[in-house]
Parts: sequence; structure tokens; C-alpha cells
Amino acid sequence: MMIKHGRPDPEGWTLELGPGTGVITEELIRSGIPQERLVCVEFEQHFYDLLKKRFPRVNLIRGDAFDLQNTLGEFADTKFSAVLSGVPVLLISEEKRRRFIEDCLSRVRPGGNLTQLSYSFTSPQKSVPGSFTVEKSPWVAFNLPPGRVWIFEKEAA
Ligand SMILES: C[S@@+](CC[C@H](N)C(=O)[O-])C[C@H]1O[C@@H](n2cnc3c(N)ncnc32)[C@H](O)[C@@H]1O
Repeated sequence: MMIKHGRPDPEGWTLELGPGTGVITEELIRSGIPQERLVCVEFEQHFYDLLKKRFPRVNLIRGDAFDLQNTLGEFADTKFSAVLSGVPVLLISEEKRRRFIEDCLSRVRPGGNLTQLSYSFTSPQKSVPGSFTVEKSPWVAFNLPPGRVWIFEKEAA
């Protein structure tokens, strides 16, 4: 679902935030994204260690997805074809959430988007006129708990 809506480009760069055990990472690779073209940011050491073993050629960074400018290091100026996020955004303040979405969208190339996984019925963040829009995917019923992907795009100038 995230890959369908994120439309990552195998010839561009893809950013995954909060990969956890690597379910989406594996799907990205299976869909044709080369490991070398994938940048993943994971906060927790045990997930980082697990991912390093599973995907040795992925550009894996242990750090905070809410501080991408510092976390991304050599990829801080990279324009990504898509950003896919599994980081929990419902637990942070609305202000921080909005800054996070705008930060992610500033890192996608034209036509790219941010897909955010969420288990809430309503969008974790409303559209912000002049900045970004949000759309929802259908429910992913086979996911436990059932989830949904929210698709954020920069508002056209
Ligand atoms: C809901 S899980 C993602 C599930 C993942 N798609 C999977 O299949 O395992 C959220 C992940 O985001 C990570 N995370 C939480 N806060 C983070 C942050 N600020 N920066 C980076 N990763 C974070 C967690 O450690 C966890 O791995």
C-alpha cells in the first residue's frame, strides 16, 4: 500500500523512516528498489542491528526521524523520489507533526510525496493551505491492527 501510493523510483533515492523489523524495507527491495538506493532511519538500537543483518547494503542510519537535517548526514541534501514513514506521529504535538511533514516534503523531488502509516480513523494531520495536502488510502484490512496510509503532497505553487 505504501509502495503503491509512494511510487518510489528505482533509479532515484528512497527514504524510509522507522523501518522497525523491515517489513516495508523488504517489500521495497522486492518491488525493485536497489538496497544501495535506499536510506533508512531507525531510532531503536535492536531494530537497527536486526536491519543491518537483514539488509547489509541499505544505507542504514541510527537516528531521529524528527531531526532529519542532523540525522541524514551525507544524505542531508538528497532529493528523494519518495519518503515512506512508519514512525508514530500521533504521540507528538501537532506543531511537531506539521514540522515533520513539511521537513519530509522539502526532501522530495517534484512529484514525490510522503506516505505515512497510521492506525487512526482520521488523518494524523489536516492539509495546511499553501503548504501541503493530505489524502487517505483505503483501509489495509489484512494488516493487524488494520492500518491506513496517509499521502501528503506539497501544494502546487
Ligand atoms: C510502527 S513501527 C514500524 C513498523 C515497521 N513497518 C515494521 O514492519 O516492523 C515504528 C518504528 O519507528 C521507529 N521510531 C520511532 N520513533 C522514531 C524516530 N523518532 N526516528 C526514527 N525511528 C523511530 C520505532 O523504533 C519502530 O521501529
